Amino acid sequence: MPGIVRFGVSMDTKLLKEFDRKICSRGYAASREAAASREAAASAEAGAPARHAAGNRSEAIRDLVRDKLVELAWQDGPGQGRDVVGTLTIVYDHDVRDLTDRLTDIQHRRHDSIIASTHAHLTPHTCLEVIIFRGRPAAIRTIADALLAAKGVRHGKLVTTTTGSEFHEHRYRR
Ligand code: NI
Repeated sequence: MPGIVRFGVSMDTKLLKEFDRKICSRGYAASREAAASREAAASAEAGAPARHAAGNRSEAIRDLVRDKLVELAWQDGPGQGRDVVGTLTIVYDHDVRDLTDRLTDIQHRRHDSIIASTHAHLTPHTCLEVIIFRGRPAAIRTIADALLAAKGVRHGKLVTTTTGSEFHEHRYRR
């Protein structure tokens, strides 16, 4: 049954300080209640190290864990793992002969792993396409590599994410 587990983590002071600095600058602000209780605790324990700059460590650590789990899910080989989601953005040369057809052919052949795609005419000579994948990681990488390798594709990047189904939706208290 899903629930919340609290656990303690021992960490080098310098490492934790650097982590706090980073998460605060990235918007993991501590809730007002948490900040107030930390200030109260700090003033109650004279000389105790101030913890006011800690930010929302729990949320930051949960995000790191989820990010690592998604990264590991994408490392599964052919025929392994669960479905993942990815988006490939490519910028390509509109004037390269047959390129649009070739890119569309690749996508049609692997339509089972592609949810949707969208196309923007950036300039008279360049196109941008975003292709949304859902399927096994190895299959998605193979299709993405084929699209990126097509002659006339100038730049592209695969963003790897998740269907989200493995993450329990729970309202965490800060
Ligand atoms: Ni176009």
